[in-house]
Order: sequence, then C-alpha cells, then structure tokens
Amino acid sequence: MGKITTTIWDIEPHTEAKHAILRKYLDAWIPILSSWAKNVNIIDGFSGPGEYNGKEDGSPVIAIKSVAEQRIPIASKIFFLFIEKDKDRYDFLQNKLKTISIPKNVSYACICGEFSDVIENELNKLNEKNKSIAPTFVFIDPFGFKDTPFEVINKIMKNDFCEILITFMYEEINRFIDDTRLEQTYIKLFGNEKWKDARGKSPEERFKIIHDSYLGQLSTVANFVHSFKMKNKSNKDDYLLFFATKSLLGLERMKEAMWRVDKKGNFEFSDATYNPNQTVLFELGPNFSELKKMILKEYKGKRVTAKKLEHFVIAKTPFTTFHYKTSILKPMEEKREIQVLGHRKRKFSYPDGVTIEFL
Ligand SMILES: C[S@@+](CC[C@H](N)C(=O)[O-])C[C@H]1O[C@@H](n2cnc3c(N)ncnc32)[C@H](O)[C@@H]1O
Repeated sequence: MGKITTTIWDIEPHTEAKHAILRKYLDAWIPILSSWAKNVNIIDGFSGPGEYNGKEDGSPVIAIKSVAEQRIPIASKIFFLFIEKDKDRYDFLQNKLKTISIPKNVSYACICGEFSDVIENELNKLNEKNKSIAPTFVFIDPFGFKDTPFEVINKIMKNDFCEILITFMYEEINRFIDDTRLEQTYIKLFGNEKWKDARGKSPEERFKIIHDSYLGQLSTVANFVHSFKMKNKSNKDDYLLFFATKSLLGLERMKEAMWRVDKKGNFEFSDATYNPNQTVLFELGPNFSELKKMILKEYKGKRVTAKKLEHFVIAKTPFTTFHYKTSILKPMEEKREIQVLGHRKRKFSYPDGVTIEFL
C-alpha cells in the first residue's frame, strides 16, 4: 500500500480484520466497565475520517456504534475523544459524526492535532486538577511509526484502568531498522535500545527481536501484554496488534474477540505473544491438543486450583477460557488423567475453589 494522501481511501482486508476485533472487544468490554464505573473514556488517537471509499465505517463510528447498538443500554456516561491531525480528515469526521444517532449518555469531542500533544495536554489537565482518569481504552492506529513514542504510552499506562490497543507497523519498522538516520526515532518508539540487536539478523530473528523488544517494554507498564500478528495472504508479516492492560478480564475479552472474528477474510491473524515465529493461528477452531500440551508442561504431576489454572490459560497461553473446561478437563477426567479435589455441585464442573491434580 502506497502513502495515502486522499481524505478518505479504500479499505484494506487487514483494516477490516482490525475493525472486527475492535468492535467485538468494545461490545464485550464497555458493559463490563459500565457495570461499576460512572464514566468511561474511549480515545481514538489516530481516528481517520470515519468512513472509507466504499462507505464502510471507520474506527470512530465503529466505536460509537458499539455503545449505541448494545442490546441492554449502557448506563454509564461514555466520552469519546477523537484525535486526527489532518484537517480535511478531521472535517470529514465531524460531518460524518453528525449523521449518526448518538445515545443521550454518549458525548464526544474531535480535536485536530497531534496524538502525542493532545494526549499529554489532556493528561496534564487532569493531573493539575488532581483528578484520576476514568477507565479509558485508547486505540492507537497510526499510518507509520514516528508518532507513537513510548514516553506517551508510558504516560497513558501510568493511570489505573487505562489500556491500549496499538497497531505496530512491523513491515515498515523492519524495513528501516538499519537506517542510522532514524536511530532516535526508533529509540523513542521502543523506549529502549534492545531492537538494535535485530540489525544484520535473519528475518525470523529480526522478527523475534523487534517483537520482544516492544512487548518487553510494554510489560514494564502493564500487567498483561498480548500480541497478535496480521499476515496478508501473500504470507508476508504485515503488522502486529499489541494489547496492554492491567486487567485479566480485559485480556480475556480481547482474546475472545480475536478468536471470534470471522476467519474467512482475506487476511490471516495469529497469536504472537509467546513465540512470534511459531504463532497459534486463529483458524476455524482452537487446537486443543496444543493447549493441553501447554497445560501439562506447566502442571504435570502437580496440583493447581481451578482459579489459578484459568489465570494461567488466559495470561500465559494464546487460548482463552471458553476453550478448556469441556474440551480438555472433562475428557482428561473421564480418562482419569486428572483428579478433582474439593466440593462441586455437578460432575465435570470445575468451579474456582476445586483443586485439580494432573496425574
Ligand atoms: C491508519 S489511519 C486511521 C484509521 C482509523 N483508525 C480507522 O481504523 O478507521 C491513521 C490516521 O491518523 C492520522 N494521523 C497521522 N499522523 C497523526 C498524528 N500524529 N496524530 C493524529 N493523527 C494522525 C492520519 O491522517 C490518518 O487519518
């Protein structure tokens, strides 16, 4: 894809996949946040014009619709902040948003400006007022990699209940990594210098080093970081999505969103967190034998509570909770490969309190 200079442009299959993930995540996550928070913020830091050439919705519209089209209306106040640097796209977005029906509890602001400046400004204003920020989801979806310094990510993530989903333009980052003129840009992007080890390495090694440098840095500001790799159908690594959160439940919902996205698209995506070169593909269904292997590697011959096992599956494997109880634990119990200790009301159920012994 060449440089986009028009106000709106054709949607690409990888963008559609990303939009599907965004929508599914917000659909699941906003009701959870609004069950306890009076206010919720959604920030779209590189919002774009809100529409594509074929009239497909852009991310700001997708995000608003995920609130407006909830089956059970959302009770909290939801505030959307859209940041767009390009004046024509900003104008287009403002006009587009006027055509959408906005629920009463939803408000939004569009700011024409640089992502970093606007975010810093907004966070400073809150700090000056000594106010803590409401639960906030920040979508960071740049064209390139020069406008997302790690310092800004750090400032966002310092706040409790803030989380980010960021498009990491792997293909471009990899392409220019040897260019010493861009050294400072890369240091700012990564917040470290570990990425330099990628220079002169094989494509697989480069991928792992670049991926791990960014994931490692995000891990310094979040409890859970997960990465998803997007490949185009010519099998080229295109970009990565990194999700960083402090909430295990948030991570669970994001992984579910990934697993539930339609796999028939023109694009392939996979979980890249643990071994970026040997990813678990979100194909037609989860590969249970793979998950069973991971569980056994950790717990064979050991005892673990069901709650801890669930935490392990969500936080340390590419899979999620809807994958393992009936598909792994039940058959293992039938074959007497596990023993379940503690009280449970139903056979083959695994409530938090029981302990599972892997024989
Ligand atoms: C990949 S597009 C965003 C697409 C949009 N998120 C969507 O999914 O529909 C990136 C957008 O960020 C804008 N942009 C580029 N640099 C920016 C910056 N430093 N701050 C804010 N917006 C920027 C571009 O004009 C472009 O509209």
